Amino acid sequence: MSSILVEKARGTEHVDQRVDALLSRMSLEEKIGQMSLVNAGDSYIHDDLAQALRAGRVGGVLNEVDARIVNELQRIAVEESRLGIPLVIGRDVIHGFRTVMPIPLGQAATWNPDLVQQAARAAAREAAACGVNWTFAPMIDVCRDPRWGRIAESLGEDPCLASILGVAMLQGFQGPNLGRPDAVAACAKHFAGYGAVEGGRDYAAANVPENELRNVHLRPFKAAVDAGVATLMTSFSEVDGVPATANERLVRRILKDEWGFGGFVVSDWDSVRQLGIHGLTADDRESAREAVTAGVDMEMHGDAYAAHLPSLLRAGELDESLIDSAVRRILHVKFRLGLFENPYTKPDAFPPGAREESLAIAREAALQSIVLLRNEHRVLPLSREKLGSLAVIGPLADAPDEQLGTWVFDGDPGLSVTPLQAIHALVGEHVEVRYLRAMETCRSRDTRAFDEAAALAGRSDATVLFLGEEAILSGEAHCRADISLPGAQAELVARVRQAGKPVIAVILAGRPLTLANIADQVDAILYAWHPGTMGGPAIADLLFGIESPSGKLPVSFPRMVGQVPIYYSHKNTGKPPGPDSVVHIDDIDPKARQLSLGMTSFHLDAGYTPLFAFGHGLSYASFEYSSIRVSSGEIPRGQSFHVCADLRNTGEVRAEEVVQLYVRDLVGSVTRPVRELKAFRRVSLDPGEQVTVEFRLHTDDLAFYGRDMRLVVEPGEFHAWIGGSSEAGLRAAFRVVPPA
Ligand code: GLC
Repeated sequence: MSSILVEKARGTEHVDQRVDALLSRMSLEEKIGQMSLVNAGDSYIHDDLAQALRAGRVGGVLNEVDARIVNELQRIAVEESRLGIPLVIGRDVIHGFRTVMPIPLGQAATWNPDLVQQAARAAAREAAACGVNWTFAPMIDVCRDPRWGRIAESLGEDPCLASILGVAMLQGFQGPNLGRPDAVAACAKHFAGYGAVEGGRDYAAANVPENELRNVHLRPFKAAVDAGVATLMTSFSEVDGVPATANERLVRRILKDEWGFGGFVVSDWDSVRQLGIHGLTADDRESAREAVTAGVDMEMHGDAYAAHLPSLLRAGELDESLIDSAVRRILHVKFRLGLFENPYTKPDAFPPGAREESLAIAREAALQSIVLLRNEHRVLPLSREKLGSLAVIGPLADAPDEQLGTWVFDGDPGLSVTPLQAIHALVGEHVEVRYLRAMETCRSRDTRAFDEAAALAGRSDATVLFLGEEAILSGEAHCRADISLPGAQAELVARVRQAGKPVIAVILAGRPLTLANIADQVDAILYAWHPGTMGGPAIADLLFGIESPSGKLPVSFPRMVGQVPIYYSHKNTGKPPGPDSVVHIDDIDPKARQLSLGMTSFHLDAGYTPLFAFGHGLSYASFEYSSIRVSSGEIPRGQSFHVCADLRNTGEVRAEEVVQLYVRDLVGSVTRPVRELKAFRRVSLDPGEQVTVEFRLHTDDLAFYGRDMRLVVEPGEFHAWIGGSSEAGLRAAFRVVPPA
């Protein structure tokens, strides 16, 4: 065993010994105290909280970010309780702390693990300075339903992308060593299947059968566990009939037993007591029993554990070994965090330059997150030399709070640089920038300013429209059944279009919106998600060609909400649609016979393809793929192999392309998707430059869970594509064969 592994094993052994020694000294009340996570957050310590801390009845607090108060909470726990066990201090540091990064869905559009890791590292540094040592992130629910408000905090529709970026994010939070003062324990959430809530309605049932759960929704969590995530959080929703917070198959059998997860599991906010509301239990006492039995180690905000575990143990309805197991896990994380040696934060211990570094990362993340969806007649980039005047119109051009997005409890809008400010700063000396808000909010139906907007567009050389959703329209419990541009925005587009000048739409939103009703009315669309503190400079740099767009969609964009769920890695079905097997509702002959419209899987009024595909994103350069090849036509199971292709920048500017590798297993003991992302890489090329992009795989990367719920790699025919989106056409074939 290598010296590092020996050191690591010795370290774990040392921690185990310390945990066991401490556990042996703990009373039952003190043990159950460790299993209680209490809400603080008033910048004031209430007497009952102080008393509970002294009595050892609290394992952690959440939502306090005043460093002085946090240190005082820790001081009471450490110096005034019998055993002096320090607290975990939890907070939703989802995409930044004071400096706000793009929402996670936007970060996913960077397809850049290193950058995502840097963003999380910057957030951890800022949060740790306030005493936070545990964040409730990364959220790695695979989501294919843009009606769900929480798609904003997800990493999109694909298990591979969510796995790679989720691991990068947790590694950013936890840093190289969890014991460092600027490290923050991560919490992979929400375990599991939450992204599949019915109807895209938050907290609704997620009816996901185990095979789909394992092949799609559990993949990012397994990756997070393998990467050493310190904690997990259960989902509010039921999964296949049993709420996740009481789902023993999920939490104890798969997560803890099958995967060997060694950290601890926390419930979501009061989700233990909600088991009664679900109708799984009759009262809080039963809820406490169900949740502990399932393997939920800590109860977030709720007193079911504190109130009922002692009597459940006395009545023999629970064995104390379950309590010991939970407390052992919690203490293990606290020791790994170094809290017993150093429970206090020293705000001035953090480099003063951290803020500038955070802002630089926020700007780069915003830049790489923005996706150029459309660019007719190469209307972008705008030329500040040739442009005399620019109309900047819309409710999101100058909205420092809105550009931050959802889950920004601690974000500082005073740091925001808005698109309007950035455009002025970048080109104001050369171009006359004329701004009109035109709508009070994105949801406004007041069109009285639209004449003025149309006139302004008519008087200007080009117009940039800033449209989309305010931050409040996405995030937890903020789901929409109609995901088009809210209010009268589409009418504003139409009015501005009538002016007959170039129109560019920059859209800020927390989800894919249905854009079919405006896409053809604008010449270009930049999709900026909610780009965070530095969204303005990033948008301005892209509008004027200082940088080329490089973002790629982490989620499919439906033409209309009725197509949802629509995602690229769908199953083939027994009747797959094709371009010649579908007819549009407007083209149906009145005398058409019932069976004449093509009996395949499509919608008469929408077809079967998204408006914009997963992985799509244009550039100011153009890229040509050629010569895809596999290292061998026959690959023995258990072997590595590679797939490569040539890529040339046929454009006129240096730019980055996200090269994507997809694979299809044509025949499986359970059906396999028509394509699955297996690898990707950002490649930067000068005009005319050509490179060979090589992806190294192992046949294990082709594994899936079969009918017996075991991972399997089955011999047979495979296809591979390499390209700039999930619609890549450059294809190779190979076979996996049994080992010689
Ligand atoms: C919320 C969310 C969860 C969050 C927790 C603490 O309801 O579901 O993601 O971390 O409560 O704020």
